[in-house]
This record gives sequence, C-alpha cells and structure tokens, in this order.
Amino acid sequence: MTVVEALQEQAGECEELGSPMYAELLRLIVDDYELGGVSAKVLDGFPERYALGLPLLGAVHRLVLGGEVPELAPFYPSVGGEWDPVLGWEAFEQVLQSRGGELRSLLAQQPQTNEVARSTALYGGLLQLFEAVPLPVRLFEIGSSGGLNLRADHFRFNLDDGTGFGPASSPVQIPSAWSGRALTPQPGLRIAERVGSDISPVNPLSAEGELLLTSYIWADMAGRLERLRGAIEIARSVPADVRRQDAVSFLRGLELSEGHMTVVWHSVMWYYLSADEQAAADEAIAALGARATASAPLARLTLEQDDSALEFPIVLQVWPAGETRVLGHGSPHGLPTVWE
Ligand SMILES: C[S@@+](CC[C@H](N)C(=O)[O-])C[C@H]1O[C@@H](n2cnc3c(N)ncnc32)[C@H](O)[C@@H]1O
Repeated sequence: MTVVEALQEQAGECEELGSPMYAELLRLIVDDYELGGVSAKVLDGFPERYALGLPLLGAVHRLVLGGEVPELAPFYPSVGGEWDPVLGWEAFEQVLQSRGGELRSLLAQQPQTNEVARSTALYGGLLQLFEAVPLPVRLFEIGSSGGLNLRADHFRFNLDDGTGFGPASSPVQIPSAWSGRALTPQPGLRIAERVGSDISPVNPLSAEGELLLTSYIWADMAGRLERLRGAIEIARSVPADVRRQDAVSFLRGLELSEGHMTVVWHSVMWYYLSADEQAAADEAIAALGARATASAPLARLTLEQDDSALEFPIVLQVWPAGETRVLGHGSPHGLPTVWE
C-alpha cells in the first residue's frame, strides 16, 4: 500500500466512524503530500510512514491540547473550537511547518488509546456471565492501556427505552449502549479485584498520561472525549493495579481463587501480538482453565476483530466446561453493541 492509499483508507475509516473533521484533514494531507508539501517532509524517512496519518493527527492534537499551538485551537472542537476546512487547514499546515521536528519525535512514539465505550461489550458480557455463575469477580485485563475499563461497573450504560444499567449519576454516560436481546440487571455483581497488564501502560491519573490518551481521540468526537474524561475521573477514586508486563507472562502468573469467578478480558489488543505470542497466550489461558472447578471457575471474555469476517464478535468461554459462545457483536470503538 502506498502512503497516499493508506491516508485515503484512514480518511474513509474516520468518515465511517464519525469524524468528518479527521476525514477531511487526511484528504487535505493527501493533496499536500502528492504535491510534495510539508506533510511529505514531516513523514519523510519513517519506514512505516504509510501508517502514520492518524498518529500525525494525534501528535498535532497533543500540541493543541497542551496549549502549545494557539493558532490551531480555534479549529479544534476538543478545546472549544470549530473545524473549518479552509482556515483550519492553513493553520494546520503552519503548525506542520513550525513544529515539524517536534512532531517527528512524537511520531517515533507508539500511539496509545484506551477506548471507554468498549466496556459496553465487556461489561455487558460480564453481566451475562454473572447471571449464569453468580460469584464475586476477580477481573484481569491484558493490553489494558490505562486500565480505565477495569472500572466498567462504575459506568452508566443507557438504553434507548430510557432505562439503563450502572450508577445513574456516573461521569461516564454511554448512550444507546446495547440493542438486540435484553440483558437482566445484576445488582449483586461485585468486582473484588481489578488488575491490568500492558507492555506500555499509561497512568491516566498523571497529567502526561491524560494528555497522551486524550490526544489519540479524534478531536471532533465529543462523546468519546467526554467518556474518556469521565472514566479518568472515576479512576481517581476506584483503584486498579495496572502492571507493565506482557500478556503472556501475565497470564502465566495468574491463579484461580476459591469462591471467585476469575475473568480474563481483552479488547482490541490481540492484533498486536505475534502469532507465537497469541498461541502462548491461548495456551496459558487453557492451562489455567484446565485447573478450574465449579467453585473456582475461569472465564475469558473478548472483543477482538475476527480477521476473516472483519467483524468484532463478543466471545465468552467459561471453564471448567470450556464452552465458548458468541454473545453478540461490537465495533472498533465499542458502539454499537448488539446482543444475540
Ligand atoms: C489498541 S490498544 C487497546 C487498549 C484497551 N484494551 C482498549 O480497548 O481500550 C492495544 C493495547 O495493547 C497493548 N499491547 C500490545 N502488545 C502487548 C503485549 N504483548 N502484551 C500486553 N499488552 C500489549 C498496547 O500497549 C496497547 O495499550
């Protein structure tokens, strides 16, 4: 794939997922890149520059959020501005000119995201698991990023019929959370332990961590930004232990616990593991599952892309039986989530 094709593809994704501003910006970058403009200079020399359209927008967003490029802020909805394709592009281009060196060093870092609405799939799955096996939950997440979704029981999942699940006054309000088969409230569900692992964890409670996570949210997606900010607020009072550890070694270190449901969940991280790591992670979970009993069960709950179908099934496997069920389907940013 060429740089231009990749930028165009990313523009299409932004359009589809609800960011007309980023779709437009990426198309303007394409025009500029094809003419050998400043974006070609900023991306020059990166072996993976075909994949750098969204990271470039993330890097610029970071400067905007940090108050470092006031000339661009009036066009960024995330800081109260309004996008304008003519004046906004002029200011954007100027920032690429004046801050090119800084942007190039930001591009050398891995993007980091923690998508709060993916909790619709994970927490909805947990409700269904608890209905079948009503034990207190020990929650373990691989690829947990900032660990925000380990606090999903503190989020509010609103339904289109006016009802909802979770604390009504939560700072995280998820609209149209679920459709399809109706879920049953589970007021007895308790999360006794919350532990995450990530090779590159972010501390959402630090100013730097908050800035990093916010910068990779597309600047005109107000709902995603609000949910992230709400989840960070919750994280200040609901602790979770997020460790700097790769998924395989973390899974190998897990133990089951008598009288608890041990849950391993993960969303949109599997793709980052090599085939060997995926096999080793599957093996570690299966080995733990082989030790599960009715009073110390194990579950694995996932929202991951199914490469063959390009869909995001929500899959639950529970041991000791080891049975697997597709509970429903989610989407890259979590919404919509539809139960079967
Ligand atoms: C797209 S983010 C998703 C984060 C979070 N699961 C969510 O849905 O918001 C993928 C995460 O996987 C982490 N990751 C990648 N490879 C990993 C590995 N081998 N072990 C643990 N985490 C890994 C990345 O650092 C990143 O935080």
